[in-house]
Formats: sequence, C-alpha cells, structure tokens
Amino acid sequence: ETRIFSGVQPTGAIHIGNYFGAIEKWVSLQDEGNRTIYSIVDLHSITLPQDPFELRANILLMTATLIACGIDPKKSIIFQQSKVHQHTELFWVLSSLSTMARLSHLPQYKEKSANLKDVPLGLFIYPVLQAADILLYRSTHVPVGEDQEQHMQIAQTLARQFNNRFGLTFPSPQTIMAGDERNRIRSLREPGKKMSKSHQDAKSRIQLTDTPEQIVEKIKKSVTDHTSAVTYEPETRPGVSNLVLLHSLATGKTCEEICAEAKGMDTGRYKLEVADALIAHLKPIREEIERLQNSADFLQETLERGAERASFYAELTWRDVIDKVGLDIKH
Ligand code: TYM
Repeated sequence: ETRIFSGVQPTGAIHIGNYFGAIEKWVSLQDEGNRTIYSIVDLHSITLPQDPFELRANILLMTATLIACGIDPKKSIIFQQSKVHQHTELFWVLSSLSTMARLSHLPQYKEKSANLKDVPLGLFIYPVLQAADILLYRSTHVPVGEDQEQHMQIAQTLARQFNNRFGLTFPSPQTIMAGDERNRIRSLREPGKKMSKSHQDAKSRIQLTDTPEQIVEKIKKSVTDHTSAVTYEPETRPGVSNLVLLHSLATGKTCEEICAEAKGMDTGRYKLEVADALIAHLKPIREEIERLQNSADFLQETLERGAERASFYAELTWRDVIDKVGLDIKH
C-alpha cells in the first residue's frame, strides 16, 4: 500500500517553486487514488521569530491555497500539524535516537543559523519533528523539492534506527521527485540559488497571489545573461533556462518545443511570453484563493475534520510506539 505524506510551512502565500516543485505532485498523487495526507506544519514555522496574528492568518491562507491548487478535502486529509498532538510526542521519542553531530551538519540548518548570534534549539532539531511527521502515518512516499533531500535522509535513518532497536515499525519513507529541474525552481534574481520564501528581495519569487502586473514586473526584471537567444541549458544558462522551464510547466509544452517556437526572439521579448503563460496558468488559482478566503468557516471546518481524520492514524502508530518503547505499563 502506498501512503503519501507531505508538509508545507504556513509562511505566507506559496511561490511557484513550492507549487511546481511539490504541490502539483501532491495533487496528482491524490487524483491517482492514493491515501494522501498533507499537513500545514505550523510548529515548524515557530522555529524562527514570527508574528501570532500573521501565523493565524497564514494557516487559513495556506488551507485556501492548497484547496485552490486542487487538493480536495474529500480525497486527501488536510490538517494543521499542531492539532494532532502525537507529532510532538513521537518527535520526543525520535529525538533520543538523534545525535547532535548528525543534525549540525545539515546544510539548511547551517544556512538558516549562519546569521544568528544564538541558535534556537527548535531550529536545530527541526528535522526530527519533520521525521516524526512522516513516520507517524507510516508513510511510504513523500513528495518534496530537492531542498528536502537531507531531511528525508534523517527520516530514513530514524526509521531504521527505531526498527533496529524496537522491532519493525516504520517503512523507510521514499522521496518522490519529478527527477528534473522542477525540483529546484531557481530564484529570479540569483539563478544560482533556489527560489525561496525567505529571500529578502520579493522580486526573486512569484507568489500564487501575485497580480498580473506584479508577474510581468518580476519576469521583466529577472536576471538572465548576455546571450539573447532562448535556449534550455540549465548548467551554463541557469537564468533563461529557468524561464523556459517555468514556461513549459505553465503550458504543458516541452522545453524543446518552447525553444523552437522562440527561435529568433530575444530574451527581452521572450520574457513577455513567459509572463503571459504564467498569468494565464495562475489566474484561476489566484481567484479561487480569494474566493475561499472569504469563507473562513469552511476553511476552519476543513481543518477540524482533517485533524480528526489524521488523529485516527496518528493514535494507532503512537499506541504501537509507546508499547514498543516500554512507556505502556499495562502488559
Ligand atoms: P517548505 O514549506 O519550505 O516548502 C514546501 C515544499 O516546496 C518545495 N520547494 C521547492 N521546490 C522546488 N523549487 C523550489 N525553489 C522550492 N522551494 C520549496 C519544498 O521542497 C517542499 O516540498 N521542512 C519542510 C516542511 C515539512 C515537511 C514535513 C515536508 C515539515 N514536515 C514532512 C515533507 C514531509 C519545508 O519547510 O517545506
């Protein structure tokens, strides 16, 4: 049986890196009829300073966004991580199997802590909570972007260590990636880096909630190179190749078809085509997000129902874990 799990942080609107790199895959896995559980991981979002009012609003915005992207609460379980208390409980058990040395080598941790005088413990131990998220549902497959690869390895190691110590409990969760460049959508300002929610320059990313004017503006200002032809060569021409890829993802055409059609066009002119394609693709999603945001009751009910359904599976695993670890004394 295939059991899918994935999570997204409720840090504002998602960008097209999250969307093309992960959420689209969440939708197709759901539509193929798998058991799909998707979590809005609010506990991960408090590992760095945040505003309580914004967090509340962002949890509802993320719920609206996922539904607008095609996650159907009747087919998938959508829920708020903190509403299922077993996540933090399993996290504690797994933290005792984790080592400081292993966690301190993770590139994401190094990056996020680099500019901090004092590193919050939550930021350091973040991947263990992520492993708990995944293992709590005995998940077999996890659709994520490339930046989550090391976190997936932590989850796999912890599953193995737990199984070795206490007997077979967790399947080793496999990463699902499209296997192409979409797993790492690049920043529009610095194509050497991934598109990221936390980059200080908002022009580096396109949000699903951006207006057509904002999309045109950001694509026009996107960094390419000094060659004017439109080609797809991600290694040597990351900027223009990223645009070709986005164009391809928005239209369903292959990168080759797109380059053939853009023959003779310079990158300045081509950028307008890319912007048009993205605007057309994102318009219905943006409108649906706006519509759903006006139905706070529906969003809240969806989350409540999701938490109930997730708790059912979480409790089954947690019972098994406390029994195996020896925390359950009724034998
Ligand atoms: P988050 O919220 O940063 O991102 C959500 C998803 O979007 C993917 N992604 C990208 N894909 C392609 N190109 C990009 N530029 C890009 N940027 C982001 C991410 O890989 C991710 O799949 N730690 C996780 C949340 C999490 C989680 C989990 C994921 C918590 N528990 C359990 C899976 C399973 C995170 O911060 O994702």
